[in-house]
Amino acid sequence: MKIHTTKNYDAMSREAAKIIAAQVVLKPDSVLGLATGSTPLGLYAQLIDKFKNVNLDFSETRTVNLDEYQGLAPTHPQSYRFYMDENLFSKINIRPENTHLPDGLAADPVAECARYDALIRSLGGIDLQLLGIGHDGHIGFNEPGDAFVNNTNLTTLDERTIEANKRFFASAADVPRRAYTMGIGTIMAARKILLLVSGEKKADILKKALFGDITPRVPASVLQLHPDVTVIADKAALSAL
Ligand code: PGA
Repeated sequence: MKIHTTKNYDAMSREAAKIIAAQVVLKPDSVLGLATGSTPLGLYAQLIDKFKNVNLDFSETRTVNLDEYQGLAPTHPQSYRFYMDENLFSKINIRPENTHLPDGLAADPVAECARYDALIRSLGGIDLQLLGIGHDGHIGFNEPGDAFVNNTNLTTLDERTIEANKRFFASAADVPRRAYTMGIGTIMAARKILLLVSGEKKADILKKALFGDITPRVPASVLQLHPDVTVIADKAALSAL
């Protein structure tokens, strides 16, 4: 595991953009695993900038997102499909048909999970998976539990996650209770993993994830077992180490 410290959020975002840009240049048809939340917004802005100013070409790139809320339509402003279209896809030359997320409106959740896993397999797996970390140690929406779940699954969000995400909704009651998430096995099968972490509020959980016991109680701790993880974290996020 490589741990890269940056002075602040912007520097973290710039470093991450260099790694993603290099991936896309070296393998234009890369399968990028993407994430939502506040953390990658600066990175996505940097990628849009590279598309506009240095012709970074996404025309062959494929993407699969980590997760999606159950019950939100793609047009719902808090759906992750909407977030991705708004913050990245509509601003670069990626083909919409090459961008994938779980379908929050799927009628049959079991079939939807199987479809998503089959889709990732059919793309040849993930070349580079981008991750953030939740305050409870989740990656994707893999919440703390008794066991690591391998495949895409429909999960119930933790109270801490609902608390953290309510800032995007009118109230905590409006945050969907369930979400589809790529499983830990799929994330761990990615050839490279890039974990971004910013801010003092993540410092304690980041320390546990990187140096604590490997346990499903801290889902991100499983990353200690992956052979190619790069962590880019600002000083504040690393302040507990
Ligand atoms: P954040 O979310 O980037 O909004 O802090 C990270 C996560 O929950 O994985």
